[in-house]
Amino acid sequence: MRLEFVENGPIRLEGGRFRVRVGEREEVLEKPRLSLCRCGASANKPFCDGTHKRIGFQAPGGVLEVEGD
Ligand code: FES
Repeated sequence: MRLEFVENGPIRLEGGRFRVRVGEREEVLEKPRLSLCRCGASANKPFCDGTHKRIGFQAPGGVLEVEGD
């Protein structure tokens, strides 16, 4: 698994099929990539809705790779 920390933005996961469980909500999403909020301001958590731009969120970019997955 590889996570990309977008500079001043969300965490992106490359994938295809994601099973998401949040509270009572569970869904399967088939997308080439998923963006997760890390600014804390999204109205659609855990997903990024672009609010990070409006609030001026700042954080460095980077990558996290999980080995042996
Ligand atoms: S990172 Fe995009 S809304 Fe939080």
